[in-house]
Amino acid sequence: WKTLDDMDLAGKRVLTRVDINVPLENGVVTDDTRITRIVPTITDILDQGGTPILLAHFGRPKGKPDPEMSLRLVQPALEEALGREVVFMESPSRADIDALPKNSVVLVENTRFSPMEEANDPKMAEALAGLGDVFCNDAFSAAHRAHASTTGVAHLLPSCAGRLMEAELRALEAALSNPERPVVAVVGGAKVSTKLDLLSNLVEKVDILVIGGGMANTFLAAQGVDVGKSLCEHDLADTARAIAEKAMTTGCELLLPRDVVVAREFKAGAASEVVKTENCPPDAMILDAGPDSVAHICQAFDRAKTLIWNGPLGAFEIAPFDAATNAAAAYAAGLSRSGKLVSVAGGGDTVAALNKADAAAGFTYISTAGGAFLEWMEGKTLPGVAALG
Ligand code: 3PG
Repeated sequence: WKTLDDMDLAGKRVLTRVDINVPLENGVVTDDTRITRIVPTITDILDQGGTPILLAHFGRPKGKPDPEMSLRLVQPALEEALGREVVFMESPSRADIDALPKNSVVLVENTRFSPMEEANDPKMAEALAGLGDVFCNDAFSAAHRAHASTTGVAHLLPSCAGRLMEAELRALEAALSNPERPVVAVVGGAKVSTKLDLLSNLVEKVDILVIGGGMANTFLAAQGVDVGKSLCEHDLADTARAIAEKAMTTGCELLLPRDVVVAREFKAGAASEVVKTENCPPDAMILDAGPDSVAHICQAFDRAKTLIWNGPLGAFEIAPFDAATNAAAAYAAGLSRSGKLVSVAGGGDTVAALNKADAAAGFTYISTAGGAFLEWMEGKTLPGVAALG
């Protein structure tokens, strides 16, 4: 794929697919990470004399206009991040765009207000392509969707990756496709069922796989451990055993909790205790990994050169069940800061957990992607990236 450096942008209208699908509360953007991370791309296009025309989705409006999912709601935060005015257009024509003063930045209304977007309808791709001269995709986090504004238009115009897309692809390549070994992966989260393909791919690619969160309970139960009232997908015991067996054949070391934090209730301030994994009381729930497990995980980080992290190690939303995630994340951040570990994290709750642990800044790279990060970890080709050639 090409980058902005390979394109001649002077005087060109640059259709720029971004992901500004950010959380909103009472009309206020509560996390503007995705907005601030696209600023370099927009600035670069302007510096090269191009006009950025931003295309983006917002929420899942199911092909119909919905004022609650209008990108007008994100416009102020975008203007603030860019330090300049942004022209909002509902459904611009080429003439509207041509009439803009030089140095304008345009934000087009939610691409998903049309059913043709998600259907990847060639008519929508053609209409979008008609607005621009060049296509720049800076939305790695939407690259798992084959939509008109992510893949359709890429086939119709000279296309390149934006700065954020470039950074994401380089970081992910360094972590999984071409990493410095040993590689350790941390996979946490509630359910094995949502991460089967991911676990199966990782045992082929990484040297050490740490399994945490609720999904570790399924693996423990599959080994015959009584996990009491813990969240556990008992019907996936065979699958968990198959993944563990595959790990043995590929030489991937699986790390499961050695000790756990258990409680009778999942609420803030609930009485909890640390027990050995095999001693979970029948009326208790495992809600976090214990201190021995954390020490074991940190030793694995010491042995590794590369870390990929997806998912928390415990029920991190409620203290004290965030302790293992916080401690392991802080340790990884420390190793990364001193140049001993390349650490990449992404996907769903992960970034929230690392932010809560105050560890995100220490990581080598934090992906802006949720579902796209998971699909990439599963080894899938992302259509939005593939379309860039
Ligand atoms: C995301 O938030 O992960 C991306 O913006 C993709 O959103 P989607 O899951 O609605 O396609």
